Amino acid sequence: MKAHTVLFLICLLDLGRLMLAGSSFSFKENFDVMWAPDHFSTSEDGQTWYLTLDKKTGCGFQTKNRYRFGWFSMKLKLVGGDSAGVVTAYYMISDTGKERDELDFEFLGNRTGQPYTLQTNIYKGGVGGREMRHMLWFDPTKDFHTYSFLWNDHQIVFFVDRVPIRIYKNTDATKDVFPNEKPMYMFSSIWNADDWATRGGLEKTDWKNAPFVSTYKDFHVEACQWEDPYPACVSTTTQNWWDQYDAWILSDGQKVDFSWVGRNLVIYDYCTDTTRYPKLPAECSVSPWH
Ligand SMILES: *[C@@H]1O[C@H](CO)[C@@H](O)[C@H](O)[C@H]1NC(C)=O
Repeated sequence: MKAHTVLFLICLLDLGRLMLAGSSFSFKENFDVMWAPDHFSTSEDGQTWYLTLDKKTGCGFQTKNRYRFGWFSMKLKLVGGDSAGVVTAYYMISDTGKERDELDFEFLGNRTGQPYTLQTNIYKGGVGGREMRHMLWFDPTKDFHTYSFLWNDHQIVFFVDRVPIRIYKNTDATKDVFPNEKPMYMFSSIWNADDWATRGGLEKTDWKNAPFVSTYKDFHVEACQWEDPYPACVSTTTQNWWDQYDAWILSDGQKVDFSWVGRNLVIYDYCTDTTRYPKLPAECSVSPWH
């Protein structure tokens, strides 16, 4: 073969790889729209997804697969301008029954110019009440930012742009309240929550600004995929880094970041709310460095 023929072939190969990368993710193959399909749309190339809320309804989508442990990540750009009363949620959930396990990111909208609040929560067997609220160090309506869950049998970590903002450990003291048995779907939705979301429900959704749109892209999962019949579990990667020792604890750099978040961005923590919990739950005394 002549040199230029070889070069040409290599170019073709590279082109093929690029094209694969460009069309790597199919929404239809990975997700179902759970309600109001007419409030869901995608960009022309199918890689960016829009969820719309208007006076009639919100909208939600969920993965077709369930997973037990892994790394789950998505880029979101939230409703901008006057978004008071509007909640965008991005969460892991086992099912919709009373005994569900759930890990939540909930983005609480606000009046124009007022900051969004990020609320997180953890449910085990239908019991939640583990809210934390954080300020963000950027405006989440201006650009896409990455929100991720790391979930293994040792810890659950919520990340914002790879900064750990919340840690929930599985220890002897917390093994009954640590969600680790039920596989979960990844779910996302937008809805009207003006009865509680913004300044405790004082700020109502201004429908003059509808439709409200949250935007998604780059869903990324490296996880153990749950296949019936129980308990088969197929790893989606060859190296389950999310299940290995390094993912059981924070790295030194992550500890520094986590401490910074704790000092500067936490606006509510159920673990310090002794009015609500005169006797604080067991997990509140577990060290995040454990
Ligand atoms: C909305 O803005 C107000 C005023 O800055 C602030 O007190 C509140 O925490 C913000 N977020 C929510 C969800 O109410």
